[in-house]
Amino acid sequence: MSQFFLKGPVAIGSDHAGRELKYEITQHLHHKGFEFIEFGVDPFATKVDYPSVANLVCEAIKDSKAGFGILVCGTGIGMAIAANRHPGIRAVDCTSEFMATLSRAHNDANVLTFGQRLIGPGLALSILDVFVATPFEGGRHQVRVDMLG
Ligand code: RB5
Repeated sequence: MSQFFLKGPVAIGSDHAGRELKYEITQHLHHKGFEFIEFGVDPFATKVDYPSVANLVCEAIKDSKAGFGILVCGTGIGMAIAANRHPGIRAVDCTSEFMATLSRAHNDANVLTFGQRLIGPGLALSILDVFVATPFEGGRHQVRVDMLG
C-alpha cells in the first residue's frame, strides 16, 4: 500500500460542470480509505457558482476540518483562482502526473483542482494518486512557500 503524505479528511467540492468527475473521485477516495467531506453541488441544482464551493472547501481546510482539498469545475481554472485567494491555500490545476509531483514537492500544494472538460476520470485519478503520495521537499522550497503567506 502506498504511503500518503497528505492526510484526510478530504474536503471535496464541484460546481455543476464538475459533478460527474467529483463523483468518480469520491468513489476512488473511498476505495483508498480516505474520509471525505463533500460540498456542492446539490444533485437537483442546475447551476452553482464555483467561488462559493471553493470558499467552503478552503474554509474547511483552514479550520482543520480537512487535511487537503479537491475542487472540480469545467476547467479547474476558476476553482484554482478562487481557492488561491485564501491565505495558506496553494491550489493547482493539474493535467499531468508531473505537475502533481512538482506541485507537492516544490509548492506544498494543498488543494488539487480538475477540469472535467479537460481530462477524463482515468487521468484525474492517476494525478490524484501521485498528488497524495508525493512529499513536500522543504528546504529551499519552504523558504519560498513561507513567502507566499
Ligand atoms: C461553468 O460553466 C464554468 O465556467 C466553470 O465550471 C469553470 O470552468 C470556471 O473556471
